[in-house]
Amino acid sequence: MNQRFWEIFFHVYEDLPRQGPGNRACAAQALSLCATLPDAPRVLDLGCGVGGQTLYLADLLPSATITAIDSHAPSIARLQAKIEERGLSGRINASVGNMGHPEQPAASFDLIWSEGALYNIGLRNALGICRHLLRPNGYLAFTDAIWRKENPPPEVRASFEMDYPEMGWLADDIAALDASGFELIVHFTLPDAAWWDDFYTPMERRITELRPTYIGDAEALAILDQLAAEPAMHRRYADFYAYEFFVVRRSFA
Ligand SMILES: C[S@@+](CC[C@H](N)C(=O)[O-])C[C@H]1O[C@@H](n2cnc3c(N)ncnc32)[C@H](O)[C@@H]1O
Repeated sequence: MNQRFWEIFFHVYEDLPRQGPGNRACAAQALSLCATLPDAPRVLDLGCGVGGQTLYLADLLPSATITAIDSHAPSIARLQAKIEERGLSGRINASVGNMGHPEQPAASFDLIWSEGALYNIGLRNALGICRHLLRPNGYLAFTDAIWRKENPPPEVRASFEMDYPEMGWLADDIAALDASGFELIVHFTLPDAAWWDDFYTPMERRITELRPTYIGDAEALAILDQLAAEPAMHRRYADFYAYEFFVVRRSFA
């Protein structure tokens, strides 16, 4: 992808409530399965984006302190503004960082959260990092894209080939968890509402809103078309892939 693509991509994405599928109901469901969190848990949100799920977590866990990390500085600036607006500075610490090298002490978190982000550094690599940062028996709740039907149309295959070439099946993620010292508590598939409500619907609205800004700029309009193809693809072919929420626990040893 060239520089122009990323300029337009971020013009669309930074303004969205979140940068990937997920919603409050799914976060609440996953959190309800972390049954033995301490009263004031220490939480790490990896690849937080503009903080859609970070703010849900702050609300759902009113005594938690949350460290939120993302490598994209403008997203952290947006989250920072929301934190200040909501008076959450004492509870959420958002900073620019690389989750591949999170610079956090070992065994220092009760819960690591990551929606749609771990794959960026390779799932197995990420699981090793999370295990190192979690206290024994600490929880990891994350979402990951998986295939769910053979022989996807070329358009779907090409889209994931570009975005997540190592994407596997449910059994692959479960095997990775097993090999990385995690005990699976539960996994569930994100419902369609979690793709649309806070992600694809605002994305389509934003693309429509931005088109007049780029009138006469054929390259930018073609990139907006390219971005609009993703929700359109989901509308037609969602049965070929899914986002799976995994709630797992670091085994004690
Ligand atoms: C699909 S978005 C998900 C964002 C957010 N969790 C959500 O669900 O709305 C993936 C996020 O991971 C971030 N990211 C990618 N590689 C990263 C890295 N190495 N360290 C930290 N963040 C990273 C991106 O900047 C992006 O915000």
